[in-house]
Amino acid sequence: MFEQIAAPKGDPILSLITEYRNDPRSDKIDLGIGVYRNDEGITPIMKAVSAAEKLLLAQESTKAYQGLTGDELFNEALQNLLLGTTSALGRTTTLQTPGASGALRNLADLIAATKPDSTVWISNPSYINHRPIMLRAGLKVEEYPYLDPKTKLVNEAAMLAKIAELGADDILLLHGCCHNPSGADISLEAWQQIAALANKNGFLPFVDIAYQGLGNGLEEDAKGMQLLVDQVPEMIISTSCSKNFGLYRERTGAAMIVSNSIEQATNARAKMCELSRGSYSMPPAHGAAIVRTILNDAELNALWRQELDEMNQRVNGLRQALVNEFQTLSQSDRFNYFAQHKGMFSLTGLSDDMIAQLKSEFGIYIVGGGRVNIAGLKESEVTTLAQAFIHVGA
Ligand code: LMR
Repeated sequence: MFEQIAAPKGDPILSLITEYRNDPRSDKIDLGIGVYRNDEGITPIMKAVSAAEKLLLAQESTKAYQGLTGDELFNEALQNLLLGTTSALGRTTTLQTPGASGALRNLADLIAATKPDSTVWISNPSYINHRPIMLRAGLKVEEYPYLDPKTKLVNEAAMLAKIAELGADDILLLHGCCHNPSGADISLEAWQQIAALANKNGFLPFVDIAYQGLGNGLEEDAKGMQLLVDQVPEMIISTSCSKNFGLYRERTGAAMIVSNSIEQATNARAKMCELSRGSYSMPPAHGAAIVRTILNDAELNALWRQELDEMNQRVNGLRQALVNEFQTLSQSDRFNYFAQHKGMFSLTGLSDDMIAQLKSEFGIYIVGGGRVNIAGLKESEVTTLAQAFIHVGA
């Protein structure tokens, strides 16, 4: 049977990890996969996470199954973190999932089981895994205009014009903050207009928020999503603790369902449990236990917020340092977009040739399409990166 399987193309993000590891150069720079690194190039375990793990180890008394919904205290704590100040809280249910990719897939399966003719609209460009996840669930996928390649910012007029055409069979997938891959976020006015359009035309908003706290801070980054959820009758959300808790390999995420009534939301969650039972069964416990411990402990919560703010400040500081360096080297403002972008990524618009040259000549690894993970850069590498960009003709 296996002779029929041709070697698949590697995942464009994940395959870069191996290529980078195998590169013998000591001054190589990895700006590929979206992981935060400190100025020593390490993805640290956050202090709040280590402290929570110690507590858990001391308290844990069983490894028995937790159940299909996962850790209910985690579900509740995460729901409060995302939607705490909104009127939607009382009509929302949350399901722990294996990372946000698990949430995306589980929600896609729910849509396919409930409204199989739905079309999911993703931004152009969007997170590299959005399309395959939706397609594998059997859904149709279309794109709405998003990034203006000239300004590297969102073309909101074009985006809203397309969204205005969506109707009751459409699902609008939005990035809650820190757009992946572009770093360009939509304004609060655009969120407001999307709310009005959803109410008028009946499409379902689907918000994927994987970088809360890494743009302008925890509260600020959730504002657009909260503005929307307060106004629409139904909405779905996927969220991740990979980045803001640094729990990448623990696969910790959640899916949220906001409905007209808590009864409807609860039924939808039960349906998702039925669907997950047919695939991964139930989510892993450890990461969710860490998050629940941190969020429910005043001291750990404060420590985590402080660490997250520091990470955020480091990334924003690097963005400004890059802009300053580029201004000096290029005598122009054409790289100012780095400081206008939010979160870990910036989409640079570099051509495939430029990306290949950066890799071969400088050992600088960037995802195809030109996405740069600013959160992977060291301060000491800012000048090298800027010089290499100018060298390849960016
Ligand atoms: C990324 O975009 O680099 C991350 O979200 C990692 C992933 O799973 O693709």
